[in-house]
Amino acid sequence: MPAITNRYTKLVGIDHPIVQEGLGPFGTPKLAAAVSNAGGLGTVSMPGMPEDIAAGARTFRDHIEECAGLTDRPFAVNIPVGVDGRGRVLPFTDAYIRTVLDARRADDAVARRLTVLTTSAGFPGDYIERIKAAGMVHQHKVGSTRQAVKAAEAGVDVVIAAGFEMGGHAPSKAVHTFVLIPSVTEAVDVPVLLTGGARDGRGLAAALAMGADGVAMGTRFITSTDNTDWHPAYLQALLDAQEGDDVAFDGVYGPCRGLRNEASERLLGHRDAADGEVSDVVELTRAKIESMQRAQAEGDVRGSLVLTGQVASGISSLVTVAEFVPRMAEEAARILRDLASRLTTQGAP
Ligand SMILES: Cc1cc2nc3c(=O)[nH]c(=O)nc-3n(C[C@H](O)[C@H](O)[C@H](O)COP(=O)(O)O)c2cc1C
Repeated sequence: MPAITNRYTKLVGIDHPIVQEGLGPFGTPKLAAAVSNAGGLGTVSMPGMPEDIAAGARTFRDHIEECAGLTDRPFAVNIPVGVDGRGRVLPFTDAYIRTVLDARRADDAVARRLTVLTTSAGFPGDYIERIKAAGMVHQHKVGSTRQAVKAAEAGVDVVIAAGFEMGGHAPSKAVHTFVLIPSVTEAVDVPVLLTGGARDGRGLAAALAMGADGVAMGTRFITSTDNTDWHPAYLQALLDAQEGDDVAFDGVYGPCRGLRNEASERLLGHRDAADGEVSDVVELTRAKIESMQRAQAEGDVRGSLVLTGQVASGISSLVTVAEFVPRMAEEAARILRDLASRLTTQGAP
């Protein structure tokens, strides 16, 4: 029997309200399958914005098919809605949404498993209807109560509320989770997931206490024995991180949280490139993404951008997902039961 069953686990068809959220531009098909097999919801991440978008879409489809071959449980994909200076959606977003819908149409086994699509960054607009028409659950990541209300009113099924401490691209006016989550859960009726700062059952219990329905984590799942696609030096850098070692720099869609190192210092120092001087914005964006991918693939954790949440400072060892996910849910349930029983005992006349 799962320790925590609620409207979110029922909506998505999972055992535990624990999500491994998108970790683009890095490959996560194996990690996603491990989290889904453990009863949580794994997410296949977007593979970046290569110059050749068709090649990116092929990589994305390969990752989706690899994940579907490794689990028969529900899993998700994450696709940021990239927007240019004039508010137009960037071509990669459209290409990746089409890739997901095509992959589901082409193979019933993929369609049965790939049932959740998470968007982030820009407003998903017309995609909401397309995702609904495909029969998928649509989750959208927001950084403010206003964005949460807008998304829920527009028809998204689940809101992921992203707090200041999160790893990767943070909202431009980042609000701490402790402030954001109660405001969002008060303002919308759809299920809400906390993202940013969770690492164990205590974080899940706190999220539930603030009215959320679950948590979506990045950093905790990067540091797992199942994350075999990433260079071990990346995982070790996160295990070694102490409080204050993270910093928000100018990323691809706005502020981005990662480790303070030579690459992020260069961006902080108002030099305009992750690796050398680049003046063109598109070229600069590509240079940043390539720098992130270099850290992940080659383990260059000093000279390249290493994305992580603040919570890395509280993580000192790798977990194995199959044991970790149910244990985290049980820990949260036990904490909530213990707190309730202590109140009853202490409150009794
Ligand atoms: C390495 C890394 C890459 C990320 N890439 C994406 C992404 O492609 N799309 C997205 O919506 N969020 C992305 N995020 C944010 C995560 O999905 C998640 O919301 C965040 O990690 C939560 O904070 P935590 O790291 O404290 O758990 C990324 C985070 C990290 C650490």
